[in-house]
Amino acid sequence: MSGAELTAGVARGVGRTALLVAAARAVETHRADALAHDAYAEHFVRAVPESAGWPVRPEQVPGGAANPLWERLGRYFGLRTRVLDDFLLRATGAGVRQLVLLGAGLDTRAYRLDWPAGCVAYEIDTEEVLAFKHRVLGGLGAVPRAEHRPLPADLRGDWTAALTGAGFDPSAPAAWLAEGLLFYLPAAAERRLMAAVDHLSAAGSTLAYEVKTAPESRAVRSGPVYTAAREQIGVDLLRLFDAGPRPDSAAGLSGRGWSVSVRTPYEFARAHGRGPLPEPDDALATNRWIFAARPAAGR
Ligand SMILES: C[S@@+](CC[C@H](N)C(=O)[O-])C[C@H]1O[C@@H](n2cnc3c(N)ncnc32)[C@H](O)[C@@H]1O
Repeated sequence: MSGAELTAGVARGVGRTALLVAAARAVETHRADALAHDAYAEHFVRAVPESAGWPVRPEQVPGGAANPLWERLGRYFGLRTRVLDDFLLRATGAGVRQLVLLGAGLDTRAYRLDWPAGCVAYEIDTEEVLAFKHRVLGGLGAVPRAEHRPLPADLRGDWTAALTGAGFDPSAPAAWLAEGLLFYLPAAAERRLMAAVDHLSAAGSTLAYEVKTAPESRAVRSGPVYTAAREQIGVDLLRLFDAGPRPDSAAGLSGRGWSVSVRTPYEFARAHGRGPLPEPDDALATNRWIFAARPAAGR
């Protein structure tokens, strides 16, 4: 793929949402009260003509603290990054050595967090997004801090053969992450993905993912967050989200013997002393972060 094809690939469709999250992480990195730091994030944003003018510093946010895109959704992404960083680091602290990032996007955890020796990070996303990421990080001379195995695949289809073919060991525990992914998948694909994760998860595996639990009202859909994303950076989230009814994957995992905890982002915002709290007609009100664990053998 040429450089222009790579940037065009990430700038359109759902790939553009990866740029949105990268820009939010770049802004977060430079906040005085940052919950997460990603020095690579701004380079992705700057490398694509369509996003090169987006903010990557708090002082570049139009309207400052009143901006619903970067202040509300952006801070949400900052909090989410931190909480899910902590989730993965807890897993490796407990001995897990396989990480599988589903819909990894422009997440650079493999490069920016401290992983124990022997840790392998599998990243699944579209070919365009992964190739673009590889090119930008390569240009920066970035070196992964875990064994890094990017796997281009469509997560609506069967990606499991690619994962096991790349060395994933289903007999050893893994930490799985689907951050900002499931909104975009049809319900049937989410069900297949959960069945695959279940099938490939040895005892001691953990999974974190993010969902919206209920359809959003007209007032929420026409509210400031979605409107600002569409108008300020041309990301029409409501068109990109799958419009069908969502499966209850948390209940499905419980039925398969996983222990499941359903949390709101607000709980973490309160615990960290910053991040989004409930507000009227809230675009984050139905977001849930789910943490699931397959009990270790003998428990
Ligand atoms: C909002 S981004 C989140 C990226 C990353 N997890 C983060 O939080 O920074 C959603 C990602 O899911 C990927 N994605 C969506 N549908 C996909 C599919 N069917 N197959 C592979 N990747 C997909 C997109 O390419 C994009 O990188």
